[in-house]
Amino acid sequence: MNHLTSKLLGLLYILPLVFAVPASQTPLSVGILDPYPDKPKITFREDGSFKITVLSDLHFGENPWDDWGPEQDRKSLVLLRRVFREEQPDYVVINGDLVTGENTFKHNATLLIDQIIGPINEAGMPFSSIHGNHDNQRNISHMQEIQRELKVAKRTYTRAAPKGIGGEGGEGNYWVPIYKCTDDRIPVLILWFFDSRGGESLGENSRPVEDWVHPSVAKWIRSEVKAMKDAWGSMENVGALGFVHIPPFLVRSLQANLNSTVSPGLNADHMGDGSSQREGKDQAFWHALTTFIPNLQALVSGHDHGNEWCARERKKGVVFCFAKHSGHGGYGKPDWGFGVRNVVFEQFDTTSTFKTWIRMEDGEKKAILNIDAAFDP
Ligand SMILES: *[C@@H]1O[C@H](CO)[C@@H](O)[C@H](O)[C@H]1NC(C)=O
Ligand SMILES: *[C@@H]1O[C@H](CO)[C@@H](O)[C@H](O)[C@H]1NC(C)=O
Ligand SMILES: *[C@@H]1O[C@H](CO)[C@@H](O)[C@H](O)[C@H]1NC(C)=O
Repeated sequence: MNHLTSKLLGLLYILPLVFAVPASQTPLSVGILDPYPDKPKITFREDGSFKITVLSDLHFGENPWDDWGPEQDRKSLVLLRRVFREEQPDYVVINGDLVTGENTFKHNATLLIDQIIGPINEAGMPFSSIHGNHDNQRNISHMQEIQRELKVAKRTYTRAAPKGIGGEGGEGNYWVPIYKCTDDRIPVLILWFFDSRGGESLGENSRPVEDWVHPSVAKWIRSEVKAMKDAWGSMENVGALGFVHIPPFLVRSLQANLNSTVSPGLNADHMGDGSSQREGKDQAFWHALTTFIPNLQALVSGHDHGNEWCARERKKGVVFCFAKHSGHGGYGKPDWGFGVRNVVFEQFDTTSTFKTWIRMEDGEKKAILNIDAAFDP
């Protein structure tokens, strides 16, 4: 998006309308808050359901100099096409580490985005992306991937946060409203996307980038929720789901006491390995996330390829789920396999329950859960 369009979009973003009403009544002020005035509204199915398929850690572009890397990307494309055909999701989330940036070249790195978008364009669903530590490297950055996606994807809802929010390499913070039907002004579900940065800064003098959500995102969450409440009134019936690539620091404590009956699914990757995320640095984000977003049903992360469980964080009661390693690139073990996480809401109920499971590449369904108040209480 160029500077002028982003300015124009900023102006359109909050457009309060005052309708003429009979003199006896007080003027009715109806706020319209729609970050996508030029895109079709994303809606539930007529049967009251909505299915989200989460792809994570695709790791395209690994080892382009040998046969192994390109072969993994071909397998990942087969997985994507099969999943889209068989699952028919209503929305697709790409949950970070789209590419293995360390192995990319400055002159063609963003072409990997075109490869990933190919099957999504063919299937035609709405979708959006967040980015991971491997998407910020000397030859590629989150912002470059976002810009390329906006250029080549037909139905993307990915956005960058307003200037000053998210920190360097952490621009991908935004939310997407999902409605019951096209004519509705107030959504029933908000998908929140957060950028946990990481990796290295772009260019010759590359430096490490902090790998947690920047504190400015906490203030932004608060002001966005305020704008939503001002425009829509009560958000009692509006559910929310969050997505962030690197698991927040505070959910790490869940792994030590994980009960595999309550939290089925692979638990083979020690959280924190391969990450230098510092203790408590994402406290401002975690606090805002768990305090200000109404009806947050779950937060979904990727990053740890050997984990696919869900559990409830004790202090704030938020459900945390791992996605599933979807790309054949990236680290892994032969028995971990590849797949996606599905999240399904039913009966237009977005605030009390949802179903979720891991769908493996070969179609196997595992770690099937009904998440509601009784889950991991
Ligand atoms: C980045 O791209 C350049 C040119 O395309 C290449 O020479 C270099 O090896 C790449 N990787 C790194 C880490 O700089
Ligand atoms: C980028 O160019 C290099 C050679 O310079 C090639 O090996 C690699 O496959 C190219 N990558 C893409 C995504 O086109
Ligand atoms: C795990 O959860 C199940 C089901 O709630 C329970 O029966 C079992 O005792 C738990 N195991 C441990 C070790 O706490």
